[in-house]
This record gives sequence, C-alpha cells and structure tokens, in this order.
Amino acid sequence: MTEELERIEAEALRTIGDAPSLKELDEADIAYLGRKAGKLTGLLRNIGSLSADQKPLFGQALNEAKARVEAALTDRKALLADAERSARELAETLDITLPGRARPRGRLHPLTTTMNDVKRVMTGLGFEFFDGPDIEEYKYNFDWLNFPPDHPAFDEQASFYVDDTHLLRTQTTALQGRFFELHREPPYRIATVGHCFRYEAVDATHSHTFHQVDGFSVGEGLSLADLKGVLAEFSRGMFGPDVVVRFRPDFFPFVEPGVEVAIKWGDRWLELGGAGLIHPNILRRAGLDTEKYTGFAFGLGIDRMPMIRHKIDDLRLFLDNDLRFLQQF
Ligand code: DAH
Repeated sequence: MTEELERIEAEALRTIGDAPSLKELDEADIAYLGRKAGKLTGLLRNIGSLSADQKPLFGQALNEAKARVEAALTDRKALLADAERSARELAETLDITLPGRARPRGRLHPLTTTMNDVKRVMTGLGFEFFDGPDIEEYKYNFDWLNFPPDHPAFDEQASFYVDDTHLLRTQTTALQGRFFELHREPPYRIATVGHCFRYEAVDATHSHTFHQVDGFSVGEGLSLADLKGVLAEFSRGMFGPDVVVRFRPDFFPFVEPGVEVAIKWGDRWLELGGAGLIHPNILRRAGLDTEKYTGFAFGLGIDRMPMIRHKIDDLRLFLDNDLRFLQQF
C-alpha cells in the first residue's frame, strides 16, 4: 500500500509538473484528488484492509501526500495563469508605431453649398422656403401656370412622364399652384429650391437633371421695380457687390411681362433664368383680387452658379460623382 501511495504521488507530481495549460491542470486535479474517482483519495477506501496499528500511519502518509500534491497544483496553477496572461497581453499589445487608418473626410457637394447659399441669401430677403415633390402632378407643373393647351413642353420628348397625371418636375415654378391652394392672405414672399428634370440631350451645358430656385411674392402695388430690386440684391449676395444684372424681354406663360435675367461675368453675359409679373390668370385662379394684388416671380438655374464661381466648364462633372473632382471643394 505504501509503495502504491508513493507511486501514485510521484505520477501525480509528474503530471502536474508537465501540465501544459490550466485545462490539463484541472484534469489532473480531478484525476488524483477528485472526491469520487481520484486515484489518491481512492486509496483511503482500502484502509480497512490494514492492521489497527498501520491504519493511522497510512492515513497520515496519505494526508501528507495529498498536501504535497495540492501544493504542487497551486504552484503550477499560479505559473500557468501568469504565462497565459502574458501571452494574452502580448497578443493585445498596441503597436504605437503603426500608421493610423485614415478615414476619408466627407464634405458638401458644390451644388449643395450653392443651394445652401441661395437659401441663406433669399431668407435674408424675407423669403419663406417651401419644398415640393420631385414627382409632381401635371396640374402644378403646367395647368396652374397658364400653359396654353398645346405648349411644346407637354411633349413626351421634353418631359419625363411617370403616369398620365404625374411627371418629373420640369421647373420649380410648380410650387406656385401648391402654395396658392393654401389660400394664405398676401403679402408673402415664398421660395423653393430643388431638382428639375427634362428630356434633354446631355452635353457640357445641358443635363437631364438640374436645379432651380423659384421665388415669388404677392402684395399690394408690387411692380417690376420690386422684382429688379430683389434680383439685384440676390445676385450681389451670391456673386459679390459688383455684379451687374441685366433684364431683357422674354416670354413665359406664367408671367406678363416676362424677362430674361442675366449677369455679367468677365466679358460675357450669362443667362440665369426668367422672371416677370405673375400672370393675372394665375392670381385669379388663386382667388386673389387682381385689382388689389400684383405679384412678381422668378426662376433661376442653380447649376450655373458654382460653374461661374469655381470656373467649371462642364455641367456633367456635378453629377458624375467622380471623387477627384468633388475633393477639390
Ligand atoms: N420656370 C422657368 C424655366 O424653367 C423659369 C421661370 C421664368 C420661372 C419666369 C419663373 C418665372 O418663376 O416667373 O425656364
């Protein structure tokens, strides 16, 4: 029995000393000291076969052996836990000499900043902004705006139709009917800015998708002079104090008289859009007394504005989303 005890203790100490990880160490703990099937603890069960004077001696020897095995377990456990922690720390170590991961920096699209500027300048001139939908009802895009029944703009060749009564808005002027249906009491200054779409052959100065700002005002005694004052002030806000604005007669179904608006840029005149006094047919349709109220309106292309400011010669660059272009702003 005593040899058996010595053999098992030696085996236990060897196994513990060789345990490569905490997992194997736990297994050794159970294999030798486990209460049910531990090899050392199991020896206690054979004690009955010993003589009365041998029993206490063997019991003591067994307890001492158990204590040594337990001490070995504790030591090895501390050692392995240490090693595992340093291995883990090594794996997690931060290499502060590694270059950082650069995150691409986002910025606003030149058209967005231009539209923000337009809103800022127009808000300063007392305009309230309203949004209309890109997919617009035919009646707001055309009917409300005094288009004669056979106007070429209705042509499928010129507009993108969605169904019989809807199309992609061809002009932000569509806001007028939407606003007039609210029947607000004048005076007011209303504006919108957004996308427009036309069935156009795309080239450096034309796109199927473009942007406009439309503004209009209704009140007592408004005249072309008010319109010119607002557009001159708007142009100064957008292009600087020295900008020169030119008005020439033009025709749009929704204004009478109508004008074309251009600004002088270098030695060229650049057409920005159209304007005029709101046609009395529209004011009447809005339920407004045309003896009392008049109004002015204007609609300007947005896309040309950053082209002028940043000397960009091709409109297509704005919609191509080429980062080499966009990163320059
Ligand atoms: N909607 C016109 C266009 O797209 C521009 C325009 C002209 C708007 C005169 C107006 C206006 O509000 O009064 O060509």
